[in-house]
Amino acid sequence: MSEEAKLTIGDNSWSFPIIEGTEGEKAIDTRRLRNETGYITYDDGYGNTGSCQSSISFIDGEKGILRHRGYGIEDLAANARFLETAYLIIYGELPSQDEYAAFRGLVHDNTQIHVGMENHFDGFPLDSHPMAILAALLNSLGCYYPDLATNDRDQDLENFDTAAPLAISKVRTLAAMTYRMKMGMPFIYPDPKLLYSQNFLHMMFSTPYEKFEASDTVAHALDLFLLLHADHEQNCSTSTVRMVASGGANLFASVSAGVSALWGPLHGGANMAVIRMLESIHKDGDDGSRFIEAAKRKEARLMGFGHRVYKNFDPRAKILGEACTRVLDELGMNDPLLDIAHRLEQAALEDRYFIERRLYPNVDFYSGILLKAIGIPVEMYTVLFAIGRLPGWLANWREVASVGDGRIHRPRQIYTGSTKRDYVALEER
Ligand code: ACO
Repeated sequence: MSEEAKLTIGDNSWSFPIIEGTEGEKAIDTRRLRNETGYITYDDGYGNTGSCQSSISFIDGEKGILRHRGYGIEDLAANARFLETAYLIIYGELPSQDEYAAFRGLVHDNTQIHVGMENHFDGFPLDSHPMAILAALLNSLGCYYPDLATNDRDQDLENFDTAAPLAISKVRTLAAMTYRMKMGMPFIYPDPKLLYSQNFLHMMFSTPYEKFEASDTVAHALDLFLLLHADHEQNCSTSTVRMVASGGANLFASVSAGVSALWGPLHGGANMAVIRMLESIHKDGDDGSRFIEAAKRKEARLMGFGHRVYKNFDPRAKILGEACTRVLDELGMNDPLLDIAHRLEQAALEDRYFIERRLYPNVDFYSGILLKAIGIPVEMYTVLFAIGRLPGWLANWREVASVGDGRIHRPRQIYTGSTKRDYVALEER
């Protein structure tokens, strides 16, 4: 007999089926709840709500497990590259050699953007935030490919295999152009011969007279950073992408919304916030202990610490923390911010406040230091996160469009405002 959950309210009882995922996670299927009982569930922040069934990524936050399509993040980080992982996340299987060559070919063929798009940069003030520019330009990208962005679900799905590598390639070009525009530097055209992360660094840092050639250490570190961010279950930005996709919006519009959601400091913007926090601690001559005490008094927040899902450790933070130390060693750099970060990590892990609340370093804690070491300006950190997360957003867009039940996502609410009132004429108020 299959399991059921019983709900009793007063004299009435109802049964609801239990559904179970492939990793044993169980949920009470409440889809009939309101129709049958007149009640809805209330779950502010969605901490107990499964918004979908998905076969892309699995997280066990208690055990610090993250797997994409069944492959452990440690395994992928040690053996795969970003584009291979992107393919896996999007299509569900590791690519064969031919499939990988074809996918990389499409990414390489799409490095350039339409020259008309260069004009968009003239419309942004120089102090615009790169995330605002990226969100706008990713949506605009769809205008240059109307056949790929029709908002006709069947047609958009039919063209997905063209649109996905195109977006993965062009997001990187647009990001590098944003940095150049803000610096008042001429755009550098992509070099299709270069690997994905090398090409990005070339477009960021080459000059018309001298080509920037990233060392293998730096190119690998950036590739690893992107790979570690490639997908992460139903986080704020991915849920946003799915929400927008559920209304039938095309892939470019949906991922552009994902960029906006990612921007906030409690989500992807935390990688910038971590560096700013470490810099201010350094500037104040604090070794981190004063800041920790302020965080415990709720006067400050220890950025890069805590996670809604991971309650023991964030496996991505572990890998990135190790990579960070390795890269700084290989580059012969000695960053005082890393020392402060280590001290904060140690102190917080031994402090009752953090232990009781199960607050551990998350991926953003070390990613800022790594990006700083490889020369990425702070304002671009969250943009780099967005480039890394794009495969996950694309895979989730595709899942909603192709295997969802086709219903628009539309939560309910508990209304707490005024009850019915009658209009009072202006002259009588
Ligand atoms: N520093 C100090 N205290 C914290 C922190 C922190 N970073 N995070 C949570 N707490 C405390 C809260 O004040 C709360 O304490 P209380 O029980 O005394 O009221 C308790 O821990 C629970 O915190 P919540 O805010 O309920 O946790 P939630 O799951 O809602 O938030 C979040 C998770 C947003 C990640 C939070 O830990 C945070 O703000 N961290 C800093 C920002 C950050 O690093 N974000 C990146 C997340 S990872 C990512 O998006 C890639």
